[in-house]
Amino acid sequence: MGEFKRNTRMSSMFAVGGIDLDGPVMIAAGVCKTPESVGPWMASAASAVESGSYTPKENAGNDGKLFHPETLEEFERLGYGLNSFGMPNVGYELAADKFAMMRLEKPLIVSIAGRNMQDYLDGMRIFSQCDTVAAIEFNFGCPNETHGGRIISFDASGIRDILNGIYGPKPIWMKVSPYSDPMLLKEIAGIVNESDKIRAVVTCNTFPNAYVDTNAISPNGGLAGLSGPALKPIALGQVVQWRKHLKSDIDVIGVGGIMTGNDIVDFLDAGARAVQIASCAFWSGEPRRLGEWLTADGTSERFQALLASRG
Ligand SMILES: Cc1cc2nc3c(=O)[nH]c(=O)nc-3n(C[C@H](O)[C@H](O)[C@H](O)COP(=O)(O)O)c2cc1C
Repeated sequence: MGEFKRNTRMSSMFAVGGIDLDGPVMIAAGVCKTPESVGPWMASAASAVESGSYTPKENAGNDGKLFHPETLEEFERLGYGLNSFGMPNVGYELAADKFAMMRLEKPLIVSIAGRNMQDYLDGMRIFSQCDTVAAIEFNFGCPNETHGGRIISFDASGIRDILNGIYGPKPIWMKVSPYSDPMLLKEIAGIVNESDKIRAVVTCNTFPNAYVDTNAISPNGGLAGLSGPALKPIALGQVVQWRKHLKSDIDVIGVGGIMTGNDIVDFLDAGARAVQIASCAFWSGEPRRLGEWLTADGTSERFQALLASRG
């Protein structure tokens, strides 16, 4: 495979959600759960790497069987993956201290999670002090303490409260679960437009509470987030709807089921400004092979043509 084919970047930079990238591909939250794991993915063909999600305090995460299936081959055969890690992480403060000491060759986005407005605002304040952090992504795919344990993505008034509190120098992105109610999606897009605090909406997080059996996933009675190719048409539908409802200066970043270069183009054609990849990176576990995957013969012609045209 030639050098060009391994390259998923462009010679000129373009702006996405208030940061500059040299290509449309980012590593999504969940692949680099520790500051230490960011380095190898920075050396991959991705143009930016996200780390997290981080919670206010250190969190051990769940115990037991946390992801399904076991291997990349099985993941490809099934066309989906499940995970229920429970967000193991070192907490905002320690992560920020570690990031502050790193030298990074590409933009780093930090994903933060919380249970209430104060958690998100604390995370924003702490990571805003880190020069190495290019943008902060609010993960709204977690339960909300102040509004009865509802996943924040589905709590319009909870989102309004959190967005109203946003201030500071870093671009803030908002990552949401997939919505099956188009009117709720439209209502929340209206809140985002009105607040003027969000530079990009990242869609979508895993589909919540999917189930195979308790041998596949043990925490939470086997219920877990679904990702991978099965999510792709849903994620594309989310991109189309968010793009339609958001003001034009708020970018949509597409994520869900990207396995090939041509999948990336499907998201860009649907209205995404850039994309993120989680499952393909997580199950392969091989940063150096990412570029090869995304530029493989037979599944990347449209992506390669796009790169050449943006060259
Ligand atoms: C193993 C794993 C862990 C994840 N952890 C997080 C997380 O901590 N925070 C978050 O916002 N999304 C997390 N996600 C969701 C992904 O970032 C992504 O939104 C979703 O999996 C759909 O993309 P994909 O089909 O490329 O995986 C995780 C996904 C996987 C597969």
